[in-house]
Amino acid sequence: MMIRLCENNDFEMIYEVINDAAQAYKGVIPADLWKEPYMSKDELRREIEEGVVFWGYEEGGEIVGVMGIQHIQDVTLLRHAYVRTAERNRAIGSKLLSYLREQTTRPVLIGTWADATWAIRFYEKHGFRLVIPEEKDRLLRKYWSIPERQIETSVVLANQDWFSTH
Ligand SMILES: CC(C)(COP(=O)(O)OP(=O)(O)OC[C@H]1O[C@@H](n2cnc3c(N)ncnc32)[C@H](O)[C@@H]1OP(=O)(O)O)[C@@H](O)C(=O)NCCC(=O)NCCS
Repeated sequence: MMIRLCENNDFEMIYEVINDAAQAYKGVIPADLWKEPYMSKDELRREIEEGVVFWGYEEGGEIVGVMGIQHIQDVTLLRHAYVRTAERNRAIGSKLLSYLREQTTRPVLIGTWADATWAIRFYEKHGFRLVIPEEKDRLLRKYWSIPERQIETSVVLANQDWFSTH
């Protein structure tokens, strides 16, 4: 196994992993925000063009988990953390998270759906804490480009470094 930078020819595999893992959101996030595929190829392409760099966890020649990192203004965002449904709870997400957070000295922020309680717990186990609601709205507007409806239904977690400087 290895964690490696994704390349152009990994695009299809990243797309598959995201949409397989995102099934977890079905029936959990507000129905008006769920769609299938959860992330289209155009959306994925746009994310990459806008600076999200994907890393993959590879096993047996296949990527089974991905996580994106995006440096923006004075912070680093960890985005699009997805581990294939069949490969969950094997510490793949933890390894990707630990690996990526070592790549930055800036405060780290993570946004996720308020209803994705497992994801919030996962990040909390790794030392991230939820920011207060007024702050998360401000942060989501400042660093993310997402619709107002998604801002309403999302939360932001930050690492200790962010809390120490804010
Ligand atoms: C969130 C997500 C990326 C985590 O990936 P993962 O590989 O399953 O994560 P880990 O295995 O490292 O940790 C998950 C759980 O397994 C446990 N675990 C870790 N290693 C383990 C091991 N070797 N054996 C058994 N359990 C283990 C962890 O303690 C953790 O428990 P928790 O649910 O109580 O926090 C994955 O669940 C996912 O893709 N979810 C759907 C999409 C999503 O929610 N993405 C995040 C939105 S930004």
